[in-house]
Amino acid sequence: MKVIEHIGQMQETSRALRREGKEIGFVPTMGALHEGHLSLIRRCKEENDTTVVSIFVNPTQFGPTEDYERYPRDLEGDSEKLRSLGVDILFFPSVEEMYPEGYSTYVEVEGLSNHLCGLFRPSHFRGVATVVTKLFNIVMPHRAYFGLKDYQQALIIKRMVRDLNMDVQIITCPTVREVDGLAMSSRNQYLSESERRSATVIYRTLLRAKEALERGEDFGTVKTLMVETLSSEPHVKEIQYASVYDPESLEDLSQRQREDYSGSEVLLAIAVIIGPARLIDNMLVRLRD
Ligand code: PAJ
Repeated sequence: MKVIEHIGQMQETSRALRREGKEIGFVPTMGALHEGHLSLIRRCKEENDTTVVSIFVNPTQFGPTEDYERYPRDLEGDSEKLRSLGVDILFFPSVEEMYPEGYSTYVEVEGLSNHLCGLFRPSHFRGVATVVTKLFNIVMPHRAYFGLKDYQQALIIKRMVRDLNMDVQIITCPTVREVDGLAMSSRNQYLSESERRSATVIYRTLLRAKEALERGEDFGTVKTLMVETLSSEPHVKEIQYASVYDPESLEDLSQRQREDYSGSEVLLAIAVIIGPARLIDNMLVRLRD
C-alpha cells in the first residue's frame, strides 16, 4: 500500500492512473476504522481497479465545543487494516496542507443542511461538503462510497455532486451494526460499559417504530413512541431528534397524514446524547399501499 501525504503527489498519481485507463474508487474517512468503514472499502475494491482511502480528521466539520481534539486517532492500527484488505493508496494529508493560512472557500448545500443534525451542528455539513469537494478534486475518483449510517451526509453529498456537476458517482452502502444492533461508530469508544449497554436503546427504538408503522400507526404516534422508548433509558441525557422524516426532503412528518406516503419509503432517524457521546442512527421503512 502506497501512503501519500501530499496533495500534489496524490493528484499526480490519480492523473497517471486515469491516463492508464484505471477506474479509481474512493472511500473518504476520518480513521479509527471499524467494520462499517471496511464494508465500504470491500465494496470499492470489488467495483474499481484502484482503491484510495483517505484518513483526515477534518477540523471544519467540528463545532467549537465538539470532540475534534479527542476524536480517536490510530494511524498504525488503521494502516494495518487497510493493508490486509489490499487497499492500493492511503491518502493522509495534514491539516496545514488542506487548510493553509488564508483559507477562505466553503461549499454550502442549502435546505437539506437545515434539518436533523444540521439544527444541532450548525456548520457541520458546510465542513463536510467543503472537505469532500476538496478530496474529490485531489483524488479525482470515478466512484466514491458513503455509508447510510450517516444518511443526511450521503443525501447532501449526492445533492452537491448533482448541483455542481461533479464527475463522480456516489454509491451508498448499508449500515453495519454490532451483534446487539448498535450501529458501528468511531464514537462508540467514548462509552463506558453501562453507557454502551444503554446505547442499544437506539436500535430497539428504530425496530419498535418500524413495527408500529407496519401495524398502521400514524406518524405522530410513532414519534411519541420513539421519544418514550428513548427516554426510558437513564443514560440518555438528551434526545436531539427522533421522528419520521421524508427521505428526500428530510421534513419531519409527525404532523402529516401517513396516507400521503402509502407505498413509499419514510425515514426513521434518531440523535441522542449518551454519556460523552452524540450517537445517530436511522432506518428506511416502506409503507404498505
Ligand atoms: P467517518 O465517520 O470516518 O465515516 C466514513 C464513512 O464510513 C462515511 O461514509 C460513513 O457513513 C461510513 N460509516 C461509518 N459508520 C458506518 C457504519 N456503521 N456502517 C456503514 N458505514 C459507516 O463520515 C465521515 O467520516 C466524514 O464526515 C467524511 C465523509 C470522511 C468527511 O470528513
